[in-house]
Amino acid sequence: MSKDLWTAVDRYLTDLLVAPDAALDAALETSAAAGLPAISVTPNFGKFLYLLARMQGAKNILEFGTLGGYSTIWLARALPPGGRLITLEADPKHAEIARANLPRAGVADAVDVRVGQALDLLPKVAAEMRAPFDLIFIDADKPNNPEYFVRSLELSRVGSLIIVDNVIRDGAVVDAQTRDASVQGVRRMNELIAAERRVTATALQTVGGKGYDGFAMVLVTS
Ligand code: SAH
Ligand code: DHB
Ligand code: MG
Repeated sequence: MSKDLWTAVDRYLTDLLVAPDAALDAALETSAAAGLPAISVTPNFGKFLYLLARMQGAKNILEFGTLGGYSTIWLARALPPGGRLITLEADPKHAEIARANLPRAGVADAVDVRVGQALDLLPKVAAEMRAPFDLIFIDADKPNNPEYFVRSLELSRVGSLIIVDNVIRDGAVVDAQTRDASVQGVRRMNELIAAERRVTATALQTVGGKGYDGFAMVLVTS
């Protein structure tokens, strides 16, 4: 099986099930035009995040890693009236592109884009009593994933859902000897999740237009 086939099936499913959306298309186009890396979630995965947020009844969402705001828009669109989303982004240029993309999607009022290293921004988020979050999407720098998971748990309640992108990395996650700091971060986070008695979790492999990767899904249970 080839990436071409995964991409063709991804496109087939997207064409069938993901309605064309000018604001989402524009978010990707402006991101590409500004030279941002093409690493947003796929349309199908964006829709998946949207469905999860709706199933969760999420009113309060936290995202690590905004980029051009593509996943942010999907998640924000799942919010009920009055719902809020905070998204953390280290690169001011990425944050600027995202901020320009949100109004087109009709979600500017619901979304708070904060610029800085996520770990530096979190104490203020906590102090503002914005927690607990109903859903947290971790999709920033992978070496910090262990810390992001620990901090996410602190900002959660029983029933909160934590989703982590890119936990398979072409299968590199199985290499215990890896020297790749991103893969090390994912492995260390997985170990923390496995050892954490307050959560129950799974992780799934995915193929599609972005290749072979996967995500982890963590439910806070106590
Ligand atoms: N969630 C986005 C993609 C995010 S890509 C989407 O699917 O549309 C990862 C983003 O994390 C990049 O924009 C990168 O600048 C940002 N990032 C990297 N290190 C970070 C850090 N320490 N704190 C916050 N954001 C960071
Ligand atoms: C990378 C980051 C991502 O969040 C992603 O979904 C794909 C790739 C990266 O840094 O290479
Ligand atoms: Mg990602």
